[in-house]
Amino acid sequence: MKTKYLASFCLLGASLLAAPAADPALVARQQIADLRREIARHDDRYHRQAAPAISDADFDALKRRLAGLEREHPAAAVTAPAPPEIGDDRTGLFRTQPHRERMLSLEKAFKEADLRAWHARLAKRLGREDLSYVIEPKYDGLAVSLTYVRGRLIRAVTRGNGSEGDDITANVIQMAGLPRELAGDPLPEFIEVRGEVYVPFDTFARVNAAREAAGETLFANPRNLAAGTVRQLDAQEVAGRGLRLVCYAVGGCEPRAALPATQRELTRQFRAWGLPAIEESWSAGGSHEMVLAVAACGRARGVLAFPVDGAVVKLDSLALQREVGAGENSPRWAIAFKFAPERAETQVLAITIQVGRTGVFTPVAELAPVRLAGTTVARATLHNRDEIGRKDIRVGDTVYVEKAGEIIPAIVGVNHARRPAGASPFVFPEKCPDCGAGVAQRAGEVAARCGNATCPAQLRRRIEHFASKACVDIEGLGPAMIEALVTKGWVKDLPDLYRLYRPDLLTVGRNNAPSVDRLLAAIEASKRVELWRVIHGLGLPQVGAVAARELARKHRSLAALAVAEPRHQVLIASLLEAGVRPVVPGSDGTRLEGKTFVLTGTLPTLSRAQATGKIEAAGGHVAGSVGRRTHYVVVGADSGTKREEARKLGVPEIDEAGLLRLLAEPNQ
Ligand code: IVH
Repeated sequence: MKTKYLASFCLLGASLLAAPAADPALVARQQIADLRREIARHDDRYHRQAAPAISDADFDALKRRLAGLEREHPAAAVTAPAPPEIGDDRTGLFRTQPHRERMLSLEKAFKEADLRAWHARLAKRLGREDLSYVIEPKYDGLAVSLTYVRGRLIRAVTRGNGSEGDDITANVIQMAGLPRELAGDPLPEFIEVRGEVYVPFDTFARVNAAREAAGETLFANPRNLAAGTVRQLDAQEVAGRGLRLVCYAVGGCEPRAALPATQRELTRQFRAWGLPAIEESWSAGGSHEMVLAVAACGRARGVLAFPVDGAVVKLDSLALQREVGAGENSPRWAIAFKFAPERAETQVLAITIQVGRTGVFTPVAELAPVRLAGTTVARATLHNRDEIGRKDIRVGDTVYVEKAGEIIPAIVGVNHARRPAGASPFVFPEKCPDCGAGVAQRAGEVAARCGNATCPAQLRRRIEHFASKACVDIEGLGPAMIEALVTKGWVKDLPDLYRLYRPDLLTVGRNNAPSVDRLLAAIEASKRVELWRVIHGLGLPQVGAVAARELARKHRSLAALAVAEPRHQVLIASLLEAGVRPVVPGSDGTRLEGKTFVLTGTLPTLSRAQATGKIEAAGGHVAGSVGRRTHYVVVGADSGTKREEARKLGVPEIDEAGLLRLLAEPNQ
């Protein structure tokens, strides 16, 4: 946990160093100005770019540090440049729409004392102690306001600057579970329903897996996926992303009498209108019960299927809510208790060294498996030698693992009280654990690496990368097979994959003829995938999927790439000699020009990457989800919801044979 605040301390350290002997008031003013700028920058990344650079916990720590400085130096707080009042998520890409009633954010509580102080303030303001509360999970997504006029949805708007937000109606109406008409009679003449668009953990995992297969960048967390999707300019893409909505409050409403008396009844009323509402909440009378209920909500968070970053405590009575009203940025009737990032304790069973495809050693903690934020964690990277030393992590230690809204878990500390007697500091190996070659460390680099250019571990990792779904996608070439190919000496470099001998393969493990033939067919098919996939697979330094696409567009053939990349000429020439002939979208004719395809299920012979390659090579486009602009859905075995969606929209279905027929038609 301690490390989480490093960002703020470093930042302050920097400004202190910049003015070593200056007047303390001036130093404070500079610090306050720096912090305000820093916070505004992170706020912009979070709200407008949907790409936060730091965790929520770090962001909150920055804000607390600022509040502390402002309290200590009130004069400096007044003269330092002011921060923006409230986060602003307007992007400039959408029309904006005003909110009838301002959309505020919530005051935050980090500890029990903050909750008790908030209760005391309310009790004083209302002149009574016996206040009833409802405690709800704080969904970690994107706030939206849905306007219904006489029960009809007329628009959906983001919070924006609180007064007006982006009109995202076209995207939001693609979401399943959002009623365009409210049910029941009588209905309010006008109502702004406030809620959160969010993504459940399983949907998040599915979307990222598909993006990985397509070589696209991954979303860091479900919140970014939700925020990125509602800002998507192509509304058709939204339907397949599995966004969900939950409604939890009301803005403007006419007549006000259309609303029930309490927050708890409001949840029931939402449901009666057909709106998705809070499923689980806690009731409490007075501050003691309220604190217990917040803790109960925190415990429940571990089993919820969607991301929750806190608990929202609300006055139950809507009349009292209106009576206390709102301050400048937040209502007085609610407060958000922020949970610490989800954390689990588990044991380090071993520390292993992974040799990457460029030889870099990455120490990895092998953990006793533990559930954390929707997934089971059994490994965590320790980054490098220095990091292990800094944290002094030893085999046998009990460690804290956290996922601060991100997908990759991190070890944030050691529970020293539980260190077994005799646990000794980890000794970083002096030799490559795989080939025994000495460790090389390049000047200016923290990473230690294996200095042997022919290290089998590096080769295995290069093959794994080349054969992965994001690259040439050779199905059936898994780690065990790769290990065998390298150990037997049949594959010494990537091109050798195209020179395998069937009788040899039949001698490996339990491989039977059909699986060997399937593997050979997959290897053969990988010769004709898109050029960028092959370039990505080569693993050139600094060339990921995005740069590979650019290189493919620029060079349009392996031969041309070889001329531009002299260092890799031999490897590329050898692939060409082995018969690798990747395709370039658009160069193989235009017969599918302007046609959009959606692939679903497993096709009998083509992998997803190959089918995509063929469609794009013929000028077509492959989309992730079915919409009204989809021309064909290509259906394989075990197809899922996309097929149902296609039937609903009347999109024609074809199978692999149908696709191949379309591809074989002459250009018109
Ligand atoms: S009530 C101020 N209830 O948290 C308007 N908000 O940080 C009343 N949120 O802007 C909000 N779950 O986007 C409320 N159960 C819940 C919530 C919730 C998530 C979000 C909402 C709000 C933000 C404040």
